[in-house]
Amino acid sequence: MKTAPSTATPPTTNKHLIRWVEKMAELTQPDHIHWIDGSKKEYDHLCDVLVEAGTFFPLNEKLWPGCFYARSSPNDVARVEDRTFICSLSKDNAGPTNNWEDPFTIRRKLKQLFRGSMRGRTMYVMPFSMGPVGSPMSQIGVQLTDSAYAVVNMRIMARIGAPVFAEIDKDIKRVVPCLHSVGAPLAPGEKDVPWPCNDTKYIVHFPETREIWSYGSGYGGNALLGKKCFALRIASNIARDEGWMAEHMLILGVESPPDKMGKTEKTYVAAAFPSACGKTNFAMMIPPAGFDGWKILTIGDDIAWIKPDATGQLRAINPEAGFFGVAPGTSAKTNPNAMATLAKNTIFTNVALTPDGGVWWEGMTDKPPAECLDWQGNKWTPAIGKKTGRPAAHPNGRFTAPASQCPTIDPNWEAPDGVPISAFIFGGRRATTMPLVYQAFNWSAGVYIGATMGSETTAAAGGAVGKVRRDPMAMLPFCGYHMGDYFRHWLRMQRTLSATPRVFHVNWFRKDAEGKFLWPGFSENMRVLKWIVDRVHGRALGKETPIGWTPHYEDINWKGLNFPREAFDELQKVNRTQWRHEVMSHEELFLLVHDHLPPEMIYERELLICRL
Ligand code: GTP
Ligand code: MN
Ligand code: MN
Repeated sequence: MKTAPSTATPPTTNKHLIRWVEKMAELTQPDHIHWIDGSKKEYDHLCDVLVEAGTFFPLNEKLWPGCFYARSSPNDVARVEDRTFICSLSKDNAGPTNNWEDPFTIRRKLKQLFRGSMRGRTMYVMPFSMGPVGSPMSQIGVQLTDSAYAVVNMRIMARIGAPVFAEIDKDIKRVVPCLHSVGAPLAPGEKDVPWPCNDTKYIVHFPETREIWSYGSGYGGNALLGKKCFALRIASNIARDEGWMAEHMLILGVESPPDKMGKTEKTYVAAAFPSACGKTNFAMMIPPAGFDGWKILTIGDDIAWIKPDATGQLRAINPEAGFFGVAPGTSAKTNPNAMATLAKNTIFTNVALTPDGGVWWEGMTDKPPAECLDWQGNKWTPAIGKKTGRPAAHPNGRFTAPASQCPTIDPNWEAPDGVPISAFIFGGRRATTMPLVYQAFNWSAGVYIGATMGSETTAAAGGAVGKVRRDPMAMLPFCGYHMGDYFRHWLRMQRTLSATPRVFHVNWFRKDAEGKFLWPGFSENMRVLKWIVDRVHGRALGKETPIGWTPHYEDINWKGLNFPREAFDELQKVNRTQWRHEVMSHEELFLLVHDHLPPEMIYERELLICRL
């Protein structure tokens, strides 16, 4: 049933949008055009289409109701940072930490790649709102894509369809155009593969015109354009121009047990950890023994949009509506809330498939299944795994799950004006040097700590794993303009605020000489968070060290955990030799961005050196 591309009945009256869709259809030559309404019926239909195509396996309806399983092509398993470009008019605006190409040249190149790229496929016109529909803090985009997989994932990760067309027709907000193709046109009669993609990949952002062009990949951050491409790279540009912040941060609320009057205290914090360094875990943490009546409430696990309100208080929304979480390591022990969230209506990508039609990944259970199919569809047993050294699930295997299913989702998670933020927490994966927790002396020292953050690389992006790289505010792959200007924007934000959030740094990953973690982590991180909350409210003491304020052993609630003072001292140790090396590598980052580096960063570094 092939019909010519038709835009005869678009569910919008916006002429610019309709014209753009027509133009892009002319360029990419899809067989059909499908305007997305976002309904459950449409979702079910697209899942059927994906099952038919071999992209999706429906999981066992009894064990995993409403869930689907997908395997990507082995060359399409993560974000591709070396293929990601910020194409501002001047190279200087993109800065040395981003790939840049001249926008006119790359546009010509992209047009060639996209020419006919959707032949034999359907082009989906998918409007989406990042943030609750109608919230003054939300932003709107329209993604054109030839991937039904991208559409069904986006239906979980964002608000899509008819209500967003209605917003667009009000004509009060800018719409960010996002063009996406897997780059695998089909010749007439050609059979499709389960995971179409192209070896040539381009993830391109035009910051001035607020456009995104993504080619060749069907995977996560490369294909769900509302997420990293829009909500971070483009939004960071919008935020700088408009005086707010688009950050790679989780948002959580800490609620105290009721006092004698029955009143609880709620404190919201936002935390930036690099990819695969514990945001999703921290956002859904369950307080350990010894914290009776304390609650953690989840707002978001990956991205925060943060804006000063009329009184100068920072408020944050989660622009997303779902969790695109790392599966390996997620278990009923480490993150029971994530396990409950992904128990139904979830899409699993690149994990293992068990014979009973379920999913499994490393760390999900202590005992692996006797047999399963690995993320590439090959037979896997514990013995085969041992022999080949190959895991059953890809280390960056992910689940796409609705945030509304999270047992700890905050009742305010869709509040149009967001929640008030009292603290920022930075943290990386560091085997040495970095103590469990310390607090910055003040805002500019805090910005310095965020700016010089380092972390060992993980599987969330292509490249070597385990090397320390500087990842300022966990935004290295996501800041859509010059990193030096980004630091300046952070420093300037303070002037618009009536109350400055306190700034902290944490490290759950410090190791002993044998390579064992010094800190049990996960639930126990609540003990650290409680100190942070107490500091925010001026209740807890701290000890001055060369790098900032740290807790005394007595300042932490140890109820329910046997953690000796010596172990804590080891964990909190500020080793001056290690720190001098640390500061030297800060200098490397500063040299890279030096012609845009705010002077405050130099002063803070000097002060730190003096104290060391
Ligand atoms: P993105 O979604 O890619 O941005 O990453 P993320 O920051 O959400 O990472 P996530 O929470 O999925 O954590 C990934 C890895 O960190 C998993 O292997 C976890 O087991 C591990 N992890 C999380 N919290 C802790 C902790 O407190 N201690 C230790 N040792 N590992 C942790
Ligand atoms: Mn992330
Ligand atoms: Mn995550």
